[in-house]
Amino acid sequence: MTDRAAVSVGNIKLKNPLICASGEHVMDRNGIRAALNSGVAAVVAKSTNETVAAREQIKKADYLLLDENWNAIAADGPSERAATFICRSGLTPQSFEEWLAMVVEMDNEARAYDAYVIASIVLADLDAAVMMSQQIEQAGIRILELNVGTPYGDEVENGCVPTERSSDRIETIVGTVRKAIKIPLWVKITGQSEQVDQLVLAARRAGADSVVAPGRFMGMIPDLETQRPYLDTNVGVGGYWNLPLTCYWLAQIYCALEDQYLDGQAAFPLVGTNGARSGEDVLRFLLAGASAVEMASAVLSDGTQVLSEAIDRIEDYLQVNDTQASRLIGKAAKVKKFAEMPDQKEPWKQFIRQ
Ligand SMILES: Cc1cc2nc3c(=O)[nH]c(=O)nc-3n(C[C@H](O)[C@H](O)[C@H](O)COP(=O)(O)O)c2cc1C
Repeated sequence: MTDRAAVSVGNIKLKNPLICASGEHVMDRNGIRAALNSGVAAVVAKSTNETVAAREQIKKADYLLLDENWNAIAADGPSERAATFICRSGLTPQSFEEWLAMVVEMDNEARAYDAYVIASIVLADLDAAVMMSQQIEQAGIRILELNVGTPYGDEVENGCVPTERSSDRIETIVGTVRKAIKIPLWVKITGQSEQVDQLVLAARRAGADSVVAPGRFMGMIPDLETQRPYLDTNVGVGGYWNLPLTCYWLAQIYCALEDQYLDGQAAFPLVGTNGARSGEDVLRFLLAGASAVEMASAVLSDGTQVLSEAIDRIEDYLQVNDTQASRLIGKAAKVKKFAEMPDQKEPWKQFIRQ
């Protein structure tokens, strides 16, 4: 491992741009340790909040892996890059106190890996979020991720896992938590908005140190056998096909923040999530404008080895191209307008078969 892969997210130096994202795979100590062992720069622990409803919701959780033809495949089957991971999920069943003790212990262990274990709260009540954030800071945890945009806000009635789509609300929420704590505050934002860029800018105005975006979409897939939706509900969807949509938003946001970047060092860094399944995908996210990348679905479908393999691929690419990860950030973010393109000679003809 060289220093080529190192990146910065605000004041936090990461040994490489790969972060194991929050999910059931990092709900306990064993899962978090496995992720740390893979070599990632950080692990975001499974989220919590103050509500019993979100803790109970995990009892209703369900998960399914589908192949590229939308047929169900075995969870322990061979790795498929084109697999789609669908689920409905809840928050950790641990009490806040149990969860906090675990994250403190794991973030301490992470120091030996030159890594971080990040605390993650899903917003429900703002006063409660402030209190939990302060307890997290006082306990010595080094980074807080505040998720204000879970995919499931419209599917549950009790507001325990909301999907915030209002810039004003996000500014109020982030501003309030920001005033209460000093540790780095990363805000996770939904992708379920036509104005993801505006939501990110609102979080930044309110003092976030970074934004993690764009969160997953909801979907529904009919099962031809049962003629019912898979898992019988709307589901959060994850798959490699999200990558173009994520890169689009990263680039849009990167350009909106352009004056904030100097030679690959971002004054306001973005953490990309949604659709990265390999080291090559991580590099694509960086080129689009991310400073670091969070990965979950691929870990759930293929285990933590996808993380170590991804880090190897990133290292290889940086070495072959004699560059550094920080130099890739946003290199592909500036796209041309259609009118700037040269005239082409009937290029559609190559796709018309008679
Ligand atoms: C089963 C599952 C559970 C998740 N749980 C959480 C969570 O508790 N908190 C959170 O912030 N994100 C959660 N996520 C979102 C992931 O952290 C990640 O941002 C998202 O899945 C997009 O990345 P991916 O395409 O690599 O899966 C979860 C995702 C999945 C698939």
